[in-house]
Amino acid sequence: MSVRIAFVGVGGIAQTHLKALHANPDAELVAACDVRLDRAEAAAGQYGMVAYSDVDRMLEQEKPDALFLCVPPFAHSDLEEKAARRGVHLFVEKPLGLDMSAIRAKASVIREAGILAAAGYCLRYLDLAQQAKEYLRGKSIAMVRAQYMCGFAETPWWRELSLSGGQLVEQATHTVDMTRYLAGDIESVYARMGFGQLEDKPGATIASVTTVSVGYASGAIGCIDTTCIQPDWRSGVEIIGRDYRLTLSGRTLTILEGTETQTFQSETASYFQVQDDAFVQAVRSGDWSGIRSTYDDALETAEVTLAAHESAVSGQPVSIAGSRLGSPELRR
Ligand SMILES: NC(=O)c1ccc[n+]([C@@H]2O[C@H](COP(=O)([O-])OP(=O)(O)OC[C@H]3O[C@@H](n4cnc5c(N)ncnc54)[C@H](O)[C@@H]3O)[C@@H](O)[C@H]2O)c1
Repeated sequence: MSVRIAFVGVGGIAQTHLKALHANPDAELVAACDVRLDRAEAAAGQYGMVAYSDVDRMLEQEKPDALFLCVPPFAHSDLEEKAARRGVHLFVEKPLGLDMSAIRAKASVIREAGILAAAGYCLRYLDLAQQAKEYLRGKSIAMVRAQYMCGFAETPWWRELSLSGGQLVEQATHTVDMTRYLAGDIESVYARMGFGQLEDKPGATIASVTTVSVGYASGAIGCIDTTCIQPDWRSGVEIIGRDYRLTLSGRTLTILEGTETQTFQSETASYFQVQDDAFVQAVRSGDWSGIRSTYDDALETAEVTLAAHESAVSGQPVSIAGSRLGSPELRR
């Protein structure tokens, strides 16, 4: 039996998911909802779906098995709750939102509903991410250096801090998530942000440069640097231990051990396809083991990035372990 899927938000990233799901014989694209009905109609026309501009009407009439939420960070409102309370499984694009108390409340409703909820940390589905994780199994990590350096995203809401959360929260969250995936939980952050350099971008209120000093639960230390004022794109994670160094950068994994260096190129054609196929399979089978980014896990990545923002504003380190220990229900 195929999985009947509906969408909320059919802008940029939704096109990637629609294409991937269309290629999956076990997925049936049934409906698209967008506050811009013209976008919903365009997507619906292309993939044989029904177009809506009202989420409640869509859920009521189409009764989908699963909902892809592909709205911008500021627009989550109670969309997750609407789906969860109807027993509709969720795929939620990163970041989960801009407000931890709202994200926690959603996580709680999702858990109570017992639905499957996955998040869009697609890099976890790269073959090299698995290889890196396997290599690091049982190894002691001393330091984690991560970066996300690129140019300015012209998506209209991206430049506004109150709408996107800024580059670290919205974009470099992929890198933060990869550091957590490979090096484990983050316990504290101490961040600085620089806001200059964007004078030619009217209305821009996000930071142009960010540096975060990170403390891991394992005792490892590290940094995460981001900028959106570069002419090219570089993103990656470097993990340093006694006599080894692992670097996952783009689609290349390099492992230095002793005096030997090995380099691997990814063979994953599309990690979005792998991710969306895994979601469809999980909904069909009820076996969630193929999901590499759950809502609860993505919540912790959101917490790190939002805590870094808080730290940059206050000028003080922010402890993440403290707030998590205060909320034992958030532990997986
Ligand atoms: N996983 C990835 O690699 C990746 C890549 C790009 C974007 N994203 C994430 O996907 C999300 C969407 O980004 P995008 O680039 O597609 O943005 P976008 O602006 O291109 O598209 C968002 C769409 O949502 C619609 N929308 C907004 N509020 C809505 C609401 N309340 N109900 C229904 N529709 C609504 C907009 O009209 C628009 O069509 C963001 O959270 C972004 O971070 C993830």
